[in-house]
Amino acid sequence: GTTLGSAAARTGRYFGTAVSASKLSDSVYTGILSREFSMITPENEMKIDATEPSQGQFSYANADRIVSQAASQGARMRGHTLAWYSQQPGWMQSMEGSALRQAMLNHITQVASHYRGKIYAWDVVNEAFADGGSGARRDSNLQRTGDDWIEVAFRAARSADPDAKLCYNDYNTDDWNQAKTQAVYRMVQDFKSRGVPIDCVGFQSHFNSNSPVPSNYRTTLQNFADLGVDVQITELDVEGSGTAQANNFRTVTQACTAVARCTGMTTWGIRDTDSWRASATPLLFDGNGQKKEAYTAVLDTL
Ligand code: XIL
Repeated sequence: GTTLGSAAARTGRYFGTAVSASKLSDSVYTGILSREFSMITPENEMKIDATEPSQGQFSYANADRIVSQAASQGARMRGHTLAWYSQQPGWMQSMEGSALRQAMLNHITQVASHYRGKIYAWDVVNEAFADGGSGARRDSNLQRTGDDWIEVAFRAARSADPDAKLCYNDYNTDDWNQAKTQAVYRMVQDFKSRGVPIDCVGFQSHFNSNSPVPSNYRTTLQNFADLGVDVQITELDVEGSGTAQANNFRTVTQACTAVARCTGMTTWGIRDTDSWRASATPLLFDGNGQKKEAYTAVLDTL
């Protein structure tokens, strides 16, 4: 029978999932993982607090386990994430100014170099823009080092791993008419016009009743693609159940397959019970690992 990965591959796309190293000993989990998915994002293991728990002391064991799993099943890797305001180790949370800027650049250089040649795309910078109507950058210790922190992060990542695609990744950037979406769009437009190395934009796509799939989602993906970047759906989950949930997953899948430069999509976990928002039952497999109606909707749409 066909699978999400093989169905996506018919149009040159991938189908991915977030993976936790701690679940790689669960044979139901790894069975679905190796059968269905052609791209893997570590759910937490490549974040700053995981890879540099003490300044200058790098810790790759859990992320390396996931990279090995990907290699053993012939899947590629999305790296997540090199620079983010959240999940910083304590030592970084208390830093500021030029010392923090230098620590961020060293982190990017070390981690991207460790994985050089093994990562299809890196989420170089995650969630740098504010929610709401301001269109401003999100306040953070990284932002306070100067507005250019994002572009210097991308340049450092390019130097360390020249063959990886370099993505900007965020949430609430799905609705074309939102200030946050417009602000990210203008940043990407500016980067492309000035030669800052950016190859892709990731749309996390965590959908629920407060944040539903917008009717212009496909337009948003197309407009970003028209700037000359790939677009990817990077952390998809949709609260709900049954046919309503399946229809939302179908809409998202149709949006990606309608956009030539939408190169793939990733769900943020495998079974509902693996989700960071398990009570929302937002994924394609139930807690027993059985395919949900949403699974069939996605498979039939790819
Ligand atoms: C989440 C993980 O799923 C959780 O296990 C962790 O406790 C917090 O982070 N946006 C992102 C992801 O970019 O890294 C987040 O992952 C979900 C929201």
